Amino acid sequence: MKRYKIFDTTLRDGEQAPGCSMDLREKVEMALALERLGVDVMEAGFAAASKGDAEAIAAVASAVKNSTVASLARSTKADIDAAWEAVKGAAFPRIHTFLATSPTHMQYKLKMSEEQVLDTIRTAVSYAVKHCANVEFSCEDATRSELPFLARAVETAIAAGAKVINLPDTVGYAVPGEMRQMFSYVLEHAKGAETVEFSTHCHNDLGLGVANTLAAMEAGVTQVECTVNGIGERAGNAALEEIVMALHTRRDYYGFDTHVDTTRLYPTSRLLYHILGITAPINKAIVGRNAFAHEAGIHQHGVMANRETYEIMTPESVGLTQNKMVLGKHSGKHAVEDAFKQLGYEFSKEEVSELFVRFKQLCDRKKTISTRDLEALTSYKSGPVKKGYTLDRFSVHSGNAVSASAVVRLSDGEQIIEEVAVGNGPIDAALNAIDKIMPVPEHALVDYTIQTISEGKDAQGEAMLKITCGEEMVTGRGLSTDVVEASVLAYVNGMNKLL
Ligand code: KIV
Ligand code: ZN
Repeated sequence: MKRYKIFDTTLRDGEQAPGCSMDLREKVEMALALERLGVDVMEAGFAAASKGDAEAIAAVASAVKNSTVASLARSTKADIDAAWEAVKGAAFPRIHTFLATSPTHMQYKLKMSEEQVLDTIRTAVSYAVKHCANVEFSCEDATRSELPFLARAVETAIAAGAKVINLPDTVGYAVPGEMRQMFSYVLEHAKGAETVEFSTHCHNDLGLGVANTLAAMEAGVTQVECTVNGIGERAGNAALEEIVMALHTRRDYYGFDTHVDTTRLYPTSRLLYHILGITAPINKAIVGRNAFAHEAGIHQHGVMANRETYEIMTPESVGLTQNKMVLGKHSGKHAVEDAFKQLGYEFSKEEVSELFVRFKQLCDRKKTISTRDLEALTSYKSGPVKKGYTLDRFSVHSGNAVSASAVVRLSDGEQIIEEVAVGNGPIDAALNAIDKIMPVPEHALVDYTIQTISEGKDAQGEAMLKITCGEEMVTGRGLSTDVVEASVLAYVNGMNKLL
């Protein structure tokens, strides 16, 4: 069976969305998850945007071995040089350059005539191919471009050496019929179209990102650009998991599949939400909490008789494992390692040892450890860099007839610092005490959620919060069977990032 190529842009277009930025370590962690997922290409960032982004792309490029790693670049020599510098260490590097081709963008943003746009495309692409054989060119705002000019822009890029041509729906304006028409027109009219790969990149402003992507494929597109969980500018990009499962479930219709290991979809989605400190809407297709829940009696009855009555794909096929009770305090290291393997995780010896310590700590607080608990533990493995303050101990006093107070002790690696504070409830009091200890300039807690990971009264709670400090916004996360502790850990985690 032929395979469509998945070009993931979670780390570039996704990361550009407010509240979705990732630091270098988070980008590498996500990139390795994308590689395990089986994406063909990952766009790791926009090298010219900042020194930090260029460094993160270079780190992804050296960590990833099986997927192509791309950097975005405007059609200027400086951007293309920066992109090449960032991806040149990759096993399979790509430069992705772009220029707008719609009348609105050419007139108001670029202030260029059609001929100037064609010249710029020619110069940029031929400059990029001197660095790298694998060059992709995108006609920004393609769906609002005039078709004859779009075809000329495409053939200019092909003649200059581009290997992949992307026609994005930059502002999420197109409808599926138009997507098919646009690609059919360009494939028919642009000279050399049959020698390159065509790609689509759809935004979700009208909620049509995935539908438009699938329509483009019907017209002959073989690469699709998308993001995990559909994160991205404004209403986001077409969601990777939805496209992959549509192609997989309807192989009978499309006749193509992808290289993606569909059982990695759920863990990858969860990892991204975890990194960003947000959760999926409950009814989100494929990865939302209710995506496989059958609540109505008539549906439950049908599913019990035969799952196919109301289920078009199984939870297992997207990596949503049943929440079976698997382990407890008598389980040894091998059993724990084996359980992680069954969930699809391969950890180094050091990682298994660290996770096993955390597993045992959890067993002291919780009788049975479920699949979800194990997954949660994996998202909290600490990785190589350990910097900043750590929680030593805390205690809180609260009740409905007293004001809440907290004593928190943190260690900064050299000394132990303890502070006391009062607050509007135990969590507020504990966070006030942390504010007194950690020397972070003027900051504000702007978002805070806590949710349970597994069932039962002793379930683990995951606290996720966002803290702003000047222009910067960071995410903090914490996990514990005690909600105050989870909140304290999340706050310390976020504040460390601001230091
Ligand atoms: O939406 C868009 O047009 C883009 C391009 C830069 C590919 O993200
Ligand atoms: Zn985009």
